[in-house]
Amino acid sequence: MNVLITGGTKGIGKELARRLESEGHDVMTVGSGQADLSSLAATDALARAVGARFASLDALVLGAFRYNPGRVETTEGFEHTWALYVLSRFLLAQRLRPLLERASRPVIVNLCGTGGSTGRIHWDDVQLRRRYSGFRATMQGARANDLLALAGPPIRYVLYNPLFVRTAMAEHLAQPWRAVVKTASAVLATPVERAAPPILELLTNPPDSPVSAFRAGRRIGVMVDPAASGRLRELVESHIARVLR
Ligand SMILES: NC(=O)c1ccc[n+]([C@@H]2O[C@H](COP(=O)([O-])OP(=O)(O)OC[C@H]3O[C@@H](n4cnc5c(N)ncnc54)[C@H](OP(=O)(O)O)[C@@H]3O)[C@@H](O)[C@H]2O)c1
Repeated sequence: MNVLITGGTKGIGKELARRLESEGHDVMTVGSGQADLSSLAATDALARAVGARFASLDALVLGAFRYNPGRVETTEGFEHTWALYVLSRFLLAQRLRPLLERASRPVIVNLCGTGGSTGRIHWDDVQLRRRYSGFRATMQGARANDLLALAGPPIRYVLYNPLFVRTAMAEHLAQPWRAVVKTASAVLATPVERAAPPILELLTNPPDSPVSAFRAGRRIGVMVDPAASGRLRELVESHIARVLR
C-alpha cells in the first residue's frame, strides 16, 4: 500500500508508520518540520508533493494536531486549531481524492472527529475570537470533522477517536499542565503499541460503509446532520478560497 500519514512523526501516527513500513508498505510521514499544515498554502504544496511521489494512494491518515491552551492565529488569519484540525484536513482529503480514486480500496482515516455531542460549531464565531479555550476549539474541530466526513465512493471515510493514548501530546503544554497531563497519561492512557492495531486493521481492511466511526476500536454511530454539513462545507470552502484563489 501507498500511505500518507500526517502527524506521522510522533505518537499514534509514528507507531502506525513504523508498523506499516515493517510490513513493506510505502509510507510518507509528515510532521511540522516537513510541512506546517496549519497553513493552507503548505497543505496544498504537500498534496502536490504526494502526487509527485505516489501514482496512487491507498490510505490517508489525518493525524496532525496540536492542542493550543491559548488562542493562536496563523499567518493566513485563521484560529490555529480551525486551520490545522479542520481546514487543512478537509483540503488535503479533497486534493488527494484523484490519487485515492486510483487505488483499489482507498480509505481515509481521520484521527479524530467524533467527540459525540460534546462539540458544537460556534457559527457566529468559528474563529473563537470572543470566547476561546483549547477545549472549545478542540471539540468544535471534532464536530466539524464529523460533519465534513464524506469522501464519496470508492473512498471509505473512517472517523477514529483513539481516546486517551500516551503520546507526545503534552510536550507543547506549559507547566504545570505538562506535568499534570504526563502524570495522568502514565497512569491512565493506552500505550501507542496497543492503540495502533485496530487502526491498522481499518487501513488494510476498510469497512464497507462510505462513512463509519469508531471509539478505541469499537464501532459507534455517525452523528448525521445534512443541513449543518452543507452549511459547514460552504464555510470551509470559502475560507480555503480566501487563501488559495
Ligand atoms: N493522544 C490522545 O490521547 C488522543 C486522544 C484523542 C484524539 N487524538 C488524536 O489523534 C491524533 C494523533 O494524536 P497524538 O496524540 O498521537 O499526537 P502527538 O503525539 O501530539 O503528535 C502530533 C503530530 O502532529 C504533528 N503536527 C503538529 N502540528 C503540526 C503542523 N502544524 N503541521 C504538521 N504536522 C503537525 C506533529 O509533528 P511534529 O511534532 O513532528 O512537529 C506530530 O507528528 C490527533 O489528531 C489527535 O487529535 C489523540
